[in-house]
Formats: sequence, structure tokens, C-alpha cells
Amino acid sequence: MKTPFKLHNIVKRYGEREVLNIDQLSIPAGNIYTILGPNGSGKSTLLRIMALLLVNDEGQLEVLGEKVIWQKGQLLRLRRQMSMVTQTSFMFQGSVYYNVAYGLRARQMSAKKVRRQVGEMLEMVGMTAYRDADARTLSGGERQKVAIARALAVNPRVLFLDEPTSNIDLASATDIENHIRQINKQRKTTIIMVTHNLFQARRLADEVMFISDGRIIEKGTAEELFSQPRDERTAAFLRGETVF
Ligand SMILES: Nc1ncnc2c1ncn2[C@@H]1O[C@H](COP(=O)(O)OP(=O)(O)OP(=O)(O)O)[C@@H](O)[C@H]1O
Ligand SMILES: [Mg+2]
Repeated sequence: MKTPFKLHNIVKRYGEREVLNIDQLSIPAGNIYTILGPNGSGKSTLLRIMALLLVNDEGQLEVLGEKVIWQKGQLLRLRRQMSMVTQTSFMFQGSVYYNVAYGLRARQMSAKKVRRQVGEMLEMVGMTAYRDADARTLSGGERQKVAIARALAVNPRVLFLDEPTSNIDLASATDIENHIRQINKQRKTTIIMVTHNLFQARRLADEVMFISDGRIIEKGTAEELFSQPRDERTAAFLRGETVF
């Protein structure tokens, strides 16, 4: 696969305030790429731009080999190949089953295949018993699991995970991490993950990027960045100190 994401001088502002300024970023296919950074540093903003859910103010963006022109047909085609688990998972009104099946129905999959796929995904996140429950009555962690099942059900080429396991108990989070790894290995899915869990980043990531104040401070292999950060700000962040 071609390099799924190439960013060049991407700037995003809210009013006068610049919240993102990424000079160069290229994300290789088939990797687990992790983004680290303090609250408000622009991680979710960056994810939303790459997922084509938010328009940048300046710069060029290439997604799955196409120069993004924000034209309707192109957006639909590209968005269909990506899915995202957000920090707070939105549930559609309806059952857990309905939520996980949603993207599959939109892709005109046969009813039989939908049933099988949804069954497998619910099994994976340990939510089979909740199949017919009203999705909006689930606890935060349960919702997050359903959101993960929903995102993976469509077998995306790119999966964005914005703090996927932040409110999930340790045992379930370990299960989910294993599935993320398995999906990456088996399907060669490119995974772009934001996490505040440095252990999780270290366990899963091939490559890591550290951003602060909307700018890339450092990027490299997980091994390099965690064991020998080059920038003092990265080192401070990894030690749990405030980054200025
Ligand atoms: N719609 C918006 N309007 C105005 N400001 C916004 C908007 N969305 C985000 N911001 C600001 O942009 C900055 C980056 O936000 P973003 O959500 O990308 O941070 P983050 O790195 O994901 O943080 P966190 O770790 O807390 O999730 C923040 O200062 C935030 O307040
Ligand atoms: Mg965020």
C-alpha cells in the first residue's frame, strides 16, 4: 500500500489561536503509530484532520494516495476506508447489535454476513451478552467496547484510536490491546493511536510521535523515543513532568 498519510505544512486555527502546525509527517502503511502529548496539544485535532472530519486552514494533505481536495465523492470514498474510535463514544439510538452492524449495513453487506461479523466483534470485546441491550444505557467502558467493535467491524484500512482504553478496566484493556495487535498483523491495518498510557504505547507502537503545543517535537521508533529521547521536552513528558 502507498503511504496512507502525507502531511505538509498543515495548520489549524480556532479564531486567532493556532492549535496545530505540522510541517512534515508521513505515516507508513501497516504500522501502529502512536501520538503522545499533553492535554490540549492538538492530538485529537490532528486525528480528525487525517480522518477527513475537520478541514485544515493551510497546507496539503494526502490520504491513501490521493491529494485531498475536500470534494464530496472523494470524501465519501476515503472515509469509507477509515474508522475512528473517539474519546467519548457516541452511540446511535438502538441496540448494541444495531450499533455494531451500522457500518456494515451502510456497505450493503448481506444480512447473514452482518450477523456473523457482528457476532465475532461482540465476542472480541466481551459484549456478547449485551447484544440486545439499549446502547444508550451502557456504562462508559461498555460503550467504549461497543465503539471499538463498531470501528473494527467494517475492516478498515486505517483505524484511528483516540485513547481507546482510557476508561476500560485492565483485563478488558489487555484483551483489546491484543486484538488491536492481531488486527494490525493479520489485516495489515494501519493504526493511528492517541494514548496517555505510556506503557500501552510502548507495548503496541512501532513508531511514536510526541507533540506539544500543536507541533511535532520528536518522532521515531518506539524503541528510540522511549529509551533515548533526543529532545528534553520529550524526556520531561516521559518522566511525567510538565512540558513548557
Ligand atoms: N472546536 C473548537 N473550538 C475552539 N477550540 C478548540 C476546538 N477544538 C479544539 N480546540 C482547542 O484546540 C486545542 C487542541 O485540542 P485537542 O482536542 O486536539 O487536544 P488533545 O491533544 O486531543 O487533548 P486531550 O489530551 O485533552 O484530548 C485545545 O486547546 C482545544 O481547546
Ligand atoms: Mg484529545
